[in-house]
Amino acid sequence: MADPQKPSEAGEPERIAKYLARSGIASRRASEELVAGGRVSVNGTVIHEPGTKVVPRVDEVRVDGLLVEPPAELEYLMLNKPMGVMTTLDDPQGRPTVMRFLPSGLPRVFPVGRLDYTTTGLLLLTNDGELAHLLMHPRHHVPKVYHAVVDGVPAESDLRRLREGVLLDDGLTSPAEARVLERRERTAAVQLTLREGRKRQVRRMLSAVGHPVIALSRIAYGPLTLGDLPEGAVRRLDPSEVEALRASATGGR
Ligand code: URA
Repeated sequence: MADPQKPSEAGEPERIAKYLARSGIASRRASEELVAGGRVSVNGTVIHEPGTKVVPRVDEVRVDGLLVEPPAELEYLMLNKPMGVMTTLDDPQGRPTVMRFLPSGLPRVFPVGRLDYTTTGLLLLTNDGELAHLLMHPRHHVPKVYHAVVDGVPAESDLRRLREGVLLDDGLTSPAEARVLERRERTAAVQLTLREGRKRQVRRMLSAVGHPVIALSRIAYGPLTLGDLPEGAVRRLDPSEVEALRASATGGR
């Protein structure tokens, strides 16, 4: 990935409540109340107007007299996760984690959801908690596309069950798209598109219809596809990709 270091230059002016929320002080609404309550100062002057704008890394903002650390730059990354890697920040058993693939010098980022230890493919990482929350919220139905190699060749009736709903121990799955990409003698390549994200869902759905997963990869998350990103490689999303992700979770609202 290109140089992850960004100079700590002045940011764009932004409303004080957004700045406080991005700094992790409180939600935007609660930050507005802090301002209205006269608890926030900018460059030594108490402010009362929630429309006040501040420039990150230039203006000195305090809440109840305590200095607010400027928010970290927002980072949005895509990793092609290899097999045998944990989607966690650290692993008590010492197994490799996705963190080893990130360049040094980045602010701390977090995986958006999980891929199993043996699953490969598209994993998003960000420190934008608001976007991560939107993407993972089950109500927003962001589609995730998986390619699986399965034992046996699913019949049309198996595909219909995958599409219409499979009863798992945590309930019926919601409608999905399922198709066979390639039929081999004893195995098949299957594409499954899910709009929910339960634990080991693809593996459990395919096992439930009698075709256990042999290998699994996620090739798309919302509007983003893995493309030709090599396994183990990471890249920054460009601003249009971040906007497209946000739109996929909010329906453009
Ligand atoms: N479904 C699974 O079963 N495993 C994953 O890693 C992702 C989705």
